Amino acid sequence: MDSILNRRSIRRYCKRTVENDKIEKLLRAAMQAPSAANQRPWEFLVVDDKDILKELACTSPYSGIVANSAVTFVVLSRKDGLIFPDFSLQDMSAAVENLLLRAADLGLGAVWVGVSPVEERIKYITNMFNLPENIEPFALIPVGYPDGQKNEFVDRFDETRVHYNRW
Ligand SMILES: Cc1cc2nc3c(=O)[nH]c(=O)nc-3n(C[C@H](O)[C@H](O)[C@H](O)COP(=O)(O)O)c2cc1C
Repeated sequence: MDSILNRRSIRRYCKRTVENDKIEKLLRAAMQAPSAANQRPWEFLVVDDKDILKELACTSPYSGIVANSAVTFVVLSRKDGLIFPDFSLQDMSAAVENLLLRAADLGLGAVWVGVSPVEERIKYITNMFNLPENIEPFALIPVGYPDGQKNEFVDRFDETRVHYNRW
């Protein structure tokens, strides 16, 4: 549970590759997330090809970090066959958070790079990978061994945000 407290957005990575067993652990963590009616709307594109990473880094003004990641997870949301489509945003977010926490737990650095709901970012990734109509890009998660930055505790507890029994 330490990773819940220690996880930070890590944006600088060493050249070292991330081992395949760790990549699988990250994917397993993401897929363990809760989802509405267990609908599991997620799909994952795992990118470690340097040229593809460079192209992916141009998704948004804030995604340059992707180019220097060892691996980036393109987190995708299935749009068809869902029982509760309106809840899929929450399902997807839970999966991303699980992946981020597992990354910290494994000594890796990662950051959530926002894609959805920004239309031009969604279109950019859709075109880049020629994704089918029922698959929509949700987020990018660049991952690598941290270079200088650390997963470390920052206290954000704010008791003024807590309300007991009534507002
Ligand atoms: C929905 C969402 C979108 C984000 N998009 C970006 C992004 O595009 N680029 C980036 O560097 N960080 C992005 N972040 C990371 C936040 O900046 C970061 O989580 C926040 O500053 C708190 O810092 P911490 O993650 O170290 O606790 C995003 C986070 C969330 C939850």
